Amino acid sequence: MNLFDQINQLTEEVQNYNIETKDSLEAFRLDFIAKKGRIPALMEEMKNIEPQDRKAFGMEVNKLKQLAEGKFKERQEYFENTPTSVEAKIDLTLPVIPYEQGNAHPLTIVKNRIVQIFERMGFSQSEGPEIEDDFHNFTGLNFPENHPAREMQDTFFLEKNPDIALRTHTSSVQIRVMSTQKPPMRTFSVGRVFRNEAISARAHCIFHQIEGFFIDENVSFADLKQTLYHFVKEMFGAETKIRFRPSYFPFTEPSAEIDISCLICKGKGCNVCKQSGWVEIGGSGMIDPNVFDNCGIDSQKYTGFAFGMGLERITMLKYQIKDLRLFTENDVRFLRQFEGLV
Ligand code: PHE
Repeated sequence: MNLFDQINQLTEEVQNYNIETKDSLEAFRLDFIAKKGRIPALMEEMKNIEPQDRKAFGMEVNKLKQLAEGKFKERQEYFENTPTSVEAKIDLTLPVIPYEQGNAHPLTIVKNRIVQIFERMGFSQSEGPEIEDDFHNFTGLNFPENHPAREMQDTFFLEKNPDIALRTHTSSVQIRVMSTQKPPMRTFSVGRVFRNEAISARAHCIFHQIEGFFIDENVSFADLKQTLYHFVKEMFGAETKIRFRPSYFPFTEPSAEIDISCLICKGKGCNVCKQSGWVEIGGSGMIDPNVFDNCGIDSQKYTGFAFGMGLERITMLKYQIKDLRLFTENDVRFLRQFEGLV
């Protein structure tokens, strides 16, 4: 290679050389500047240059030398003025400040599980508003005007407009879906409901329900039983028993309360089940033909079942939680016990 080309190549190498540590600074010095380095070696070549080119060569080689020495000096000063972590007494072995990670609320954990179980059975999820009108919360559901069942629900009404209320149950979603969609329908909804009740270990004015219904030709009470039977086994375990007790709701006929065998005493009788061996988790029944008529569904052609269950109740039974207020107090000692569950 021509000696002038060698100068150019070395210039480029010097410019691109990365000096990030004291060790690489020394390597740089040895490679380019030191007595046996490549720049002094190039200067040795002076004697082999044609006399008319010597001046130009000398100038070029000097430029390269200055470039390399300048770079060396600049980096050397930098390292002298910048203390290393050891010199600055930074203790790199100190632990980091732990990152506080939250976890899902127990109601969310159980809700997610419920969603999973019903979706696997082919139910889709629906939603409805928490602020409802009388039609969707009561009249559409076959609550007659002035019927005592309306009082049963301790409704929060809007003072200025008693037609507007906070929904007392998720059955309002039934009316929303039935009056906008056509059978067959297989859907469920999870959401907040409101009732004017004093807050205690066993009651709250805000809680959650899961509502589900299935409407098609020839849907029977056996389908209702099988659906809930499957749900209960998936949710609480295969050994859990289920029982239906006759009941009354304006929007179902016949109606039944859903009980499961007490998970605490396994049916022997304890405080939680009031010695009966059974605990209630919700209501259910065959949808009343009047409700179909209110929503424009042919009650001659279609039948359907519906059920509504309490999310808090299910969560309390699943995790043996004794006080409803724990769900809203946000005491981390309670919430942390659900770490790792989703
Ligand atoms: N909506 C009823 C309640 O809140 C529960 C229910 C839902 C009963 C669907 C029957 C069918 O008590």
